[in-house]
Order: sequence, then structure tokens, then C-alpha cells
Amino acid sequence: MKILAINSTKGGVGKTATAVNIAYLATLNKLKVLLWDMDIQSSATFYFRIESKLKGNPEDIFKEGKFIYKNVKKSNYDNLDIIPSDFSYKDLDIIINETKKVKKKFTSLLENLEDEYDLVVFDCPASFNLISEYILKVSDFLLVPIIPTTLSIRAYEILIKYINENIKSNIMTYAFFTMVDYRKKMHKKIAEEFPKSNKLCLKSTIPYSSTIERMGEYRAPVATFSSGSKADKALKNLWFEIKNLLNI
Ligand SMILES: Nc1ncnc2c1ncn2[C@@H]1O[C@H](COP(=O)(O)OP(=O)(O)O)[C@@H](O)[C@H]1O
Ligand SMILES: [Mg+2]
Repeated sequence: MKILAINSTKGGVGKTATAVNIAYLATLNKLKVLLWDMDIQSSATFYFRIESKLKGNPEDIFKEGKFIYKNVKKSNYDNLDIIPSDFSYKDLDIIINETKKVKKKFTSLLENLEDEYDLVVFDCPASFNLISEYILKVSDFLLVPIIPTTLSIRAYEILIKYINENIKSNIMTYAFFTMVDYRKKMHKKIAEEFPKSNKLCLKSTIPYSSTIERMGEYRAPVATFSSGSKADKALKNLWFEIKNLLNI
């Protein structure tokens, strides 16, 4: 089982859109996937038409996996389950702060899922807090969406510097450009130049796309309502790049 975390300190950069589409595309490759929505906004939960309501308390997460099994929901798609989020996750950092041996407990909880899933996708909240940090400690791959602007690149570099200096983990970390508006000189220049000087940037880019915005209307992954579109092809390229790196 591989664990993919989608994270950025910035909000509104396409983390959830990526998590939802990658999770779905992985199932088309016959992988069994669990998407765990960690954001109080519960957008991934919404996209999969699941109620944003958790059974039990977030503190149960670290108690023998009980919380997990009560909260795994079937999506409308084969081989794709969701752990929804709700507003009670607002207290998750306090809970983690008061819990002993969080990493060990989190690791063993995820080990319990190993027989059932090939891939776990974490849709993380914006910003960087204790839960984001623990997710990185237990994940194999961190994917960071960046909009091609100066401040987004800066935010990405600050995040990577923090991870390199503070988080002991063998996590593979890759950025990719999203919401790229090729009519904008700056977007085009950054999206073309940055990957040349940064080996940890994926080649696939996701364009600014009204198809992706329409996920909110369809409440479904792009491939289910716009197969063959530019956005669909770009998302599939992104997934194949990640799949190869994860070796799954
Ligand atoms: N490639 C894209 N092109 C256009 N709009 C996008 C794209 N990706 C996401 N969006 C839209 O931008 C908004 C924020 O995306 P979302 O995935 O929720 O970001 P995050 O999870 O990082 O906050 C949503 O309204 C979404 O529909
Ligand atoms: Mg989100």
C-alpha cells in the first residue's frame, strides 16, 4: 500500500481537485483506493456526494483504528472508498498535541488498512499544521500543486525548506503546476522554466480549465463526465507520472 499526500500551505490551488481525480484515475488501473478527506471544508467529501459527518470523535483516530472502520464510506465508484471530513477536525491539532506516540499510532492504524487498499490519498487542508506534519511522516509521496506565480513558488520553497530541515522521512516530494493560464506570459514562462532547474517538479501540468471547475456542478471526477477533454488528458498524464514514481 502506498500513501500519497496532497498538500500546500496555500488554499485554492487545486489540492482537492487533484486528490479527487487522482483517486478516481487510480481505480481505473485496478487499484483499490481510499481517499481520506482531512480538510474541515470537506470539499472532497462533497465531490463524492458523501455526507460530511463523522461517527465518533476525532480523538478516536488514534485509538486502535476504531474510528477508521466506522467512517469508511463507499463512493459511487468501484474500488474507491472515502473517509469524509467534518468540522470537528478543527480540533485535530489540539488532540494530536495531547496524544502520546502519534506517529506510531498513526502508522499502525494505516498498517491495518494494508490488506484492503493499494493506495491511500490524503486531501490535506491549506496551511501547515501538526496533522499535515504527521501525514508527511507516514506518507510515501508528497504532491504539491503550484500556480505559476512568484508567491506560489515562494510558498512552495518555504515548505520544502521546512520539510528538509525538520521532518525525518523518506517521502518523495514533487511539485506540479496547476491552473496554468497559457495566455499569461508569466504563467507560461514559470511553467516552462521552473521544471528545467528543479528536478523535483513533474512534467505534467494542469491547465486552467472550466471543465475542472465544473466538478462542483457534476460532483464527480473529470473522467466521468468529460473523458477525452484537455483537462482529462492532463490529469491522466499527471496520474501516470505519479504512478510510475510510486511504482504501483
Ligand atoms: N485546473 C483548474 N482550473 C480551473 N479551476 C480549478 C482548477 N483546479 C481547481 N479549480 C477550482 O479552483 C477552486 C479551488 O480548487 P480546490 O481543488 O478546492 O483547491 P484547494 O483544495 O487547494 O483549496 C475550486 O473552485 C476548483 O473548482
Ligand atoms: Mg481542498
